[in-house]
Amino acid sequence: MNLLHRPRRLRTTPLMRELVAETDIAARHLITPHFVVEGRGHVDEISSMPGVTHVSVDKLVDEVAADIDLGLRTHLLFGIPEHKDDHGTAAVAKDGLVPQALQALRDRFGRDVVLVTDVCLCAYTSHGHCGFLEDGVVVNDASADQLARMALAHAKAGADIVSPSDMMDGRVGAIRDLLDDEGFVNTSILAYSAKFASAYYGPFRDACDSAPRGDRKTYQMDSRNGREALLEALLDMEEGADMVMVKPALAYLDIVRRVREQALCPVVCYNVSGEYSMVKAAVKAGFADERAVVMENLLGMRRAGADLIITYHGRDALRGGWIR
Ligand code: PBG
Ligand code: ZN
Repeated sequence: MNLLHRPRRLRTTPLMRELVAETDIAARHLITPHFVVEGRGHVDEISSMPGVTHVSVDKLVDEVAADIDLGLRTHLLFGIPEHKDDHGTAAVAKDGLVPQALQALRDRFGRDVVLVTDVCLCAYTSHGHCGFLEDGVVVNDASADQLARMALAHAKAGADIVSPSDMMDGRVGAIRDLLDDEGFVNTSILAYSAKFASAYYGPFRDACDSAPRGDRKTYQMDSRNGREALLEALLDMEEGADMVMVKPALAYLDIVRRVREQALCPVVCYNVSGEYSMVKAAVKAGFADERAVVMENLLGMRRAGADLIITYHGRDALRGGWIR
């Protein structure tokens, strides 16, 4: 057969395939989450997320040191406080868990790390919602004010990037305003812009003990909506977001692509706990080759348009030499 076009010509050898590969992934694209708990000496594996730990501040420094050795430079901190109340008071404390962690990491690593903090109330409230609950309703504006105070506490303690994950309207603007008023003009905001009400957060909610009374459908997005995700991203950019996020990743790669096409800023996706734990479970059951499946997932996110990926697979990927 005389065939002018034979796409297989470019797939003949590993080096030929390497030559024409369109998508890359490197350590610099990955952001590594940490679940910080109170006390000392804790490094406890989270049962729903094999390989991920609850870690106290003293041990967090060691965990991050090991990650830095692997090439992971960007770290996302979640606080899991012992004290929970209606308004998530512990979230805004100057000497709270996350501020302590930030200070310890900055003292030890200086500018060799980028420190990102999750800004949300759900791990801090007794009812588990991401904002204030009044008469059974998660109220918007008072919640946004509290989130801004939380972001300020993180900025003061040295966060490079604050990352609101609550989905209240106007919270990016409220955070930008307060940070600027207080002189933190260079603290960046990574907005969880299109965060869907998803069943893939299950293992995380176990980890953070943050399952809400009821559900989050009055603030997180309906998974049927793509256009609305663009609205959310555009509003966050107008309010001053420096980067926008789509979350979860795998069932929402169309959204990643669409946001990528509209946004001029970096786009991040969150490869969430349920996505991670499903892979781990499949591997454990002998149904999947971990390296192959993880790389296919992460490359799919990059190909869809994610500049950066928040993932729990980073350590395995670097340790295994799957990524450099
Ligand atoms: C809380 C928050 C959640 C995640 C990140 N921040 C869960 C939720 O909204 O219930 C999910 C992360 C994951 O599943 O890995 N606002
Ligand atoms: Zn929340």
